[in-house]
Amino acid sequence: MAPIIAPSILAADFANIQKEVEMLNESSADWIHIDIMDGMFVPNISFGMPVLAAIQKHAKKPLDVHLMIEQPERYVETFKKLGADTISVHYEACPHLHRNLQQLRDLDCRVGVALNPHTSVELLADTLQDIDLVCMMSVNPGFGGQKFIEQTYQKVRKLRAMAEAQNTPLHIEIDGGVNSENAPKLIEAGADVLVAGSFVFRAEDPIATIAGLKG
Ligand code: DX5
Ligand code: ZN
Repeated sequence: MAPIIAPSILAADFANIQKEVEMLNESSADWIHIDIMDGMFVPNISFGMPVLAAIQKHAKKPLDVHLMIEQPERYVETFKKLGADTISVHYEACPHLHRNLQQLRDLDCRVGVALNPHTSVELLADTLQDIDLVCMMSVNPGFGGQKFIEQTYQKVRKLRAMAEAQNTPLHIEIDGGVNSENAPKLIEAGADVLVAGSFVFRAEDPIATIAGLKG
């Protein structure tokens, strides 16, 4: 099956955000990946609610919101109201992850958990049934345009095997450094959602690049 492609708007031209979103609307992208960074959980600040509202005004594709923020429980309801279809909170930012998952489930959005590169997939063994999507970081979160971490393949294989053993459907999303070279290998390892920022927005033809990632 063709993967779900979620271009990351972080790499877009923010001075022309309407045009960038319209380009994604016309493309074969499935979701729009939205990176929210608070300058605390990660060493960078991206953008917040007003920018998301502006994106949402033009977007015709589901919004996949990746919260790289501390205490995400304070804001998830607002993000849902702003049109989030999927919300991922970071494992490392949630000492009471089970409670965060319940909160997301009650909001009726796709429930996501993001894992930093050093965080073992085994730590999700007891919550996998409550998770719809794992956003597996294949770079250290905080910046676009970084180099893909090769260890990711092994983590994907392990997580896919865990989901199969528990007989639970799970989206495995790869976030960071995705390109046409690693995309087929990631799908082969068991991933089904690919986020791509710089590879799409820095391409001469982003629409063709998105179609290429879809395979
Ligand atoms: C990194 C973000 C990613 C990033 C991906 O903290 O979570 O979504 O935008 O960008 P690329 O594809 O350029 O690595
Ligand atoms: Zn992201």
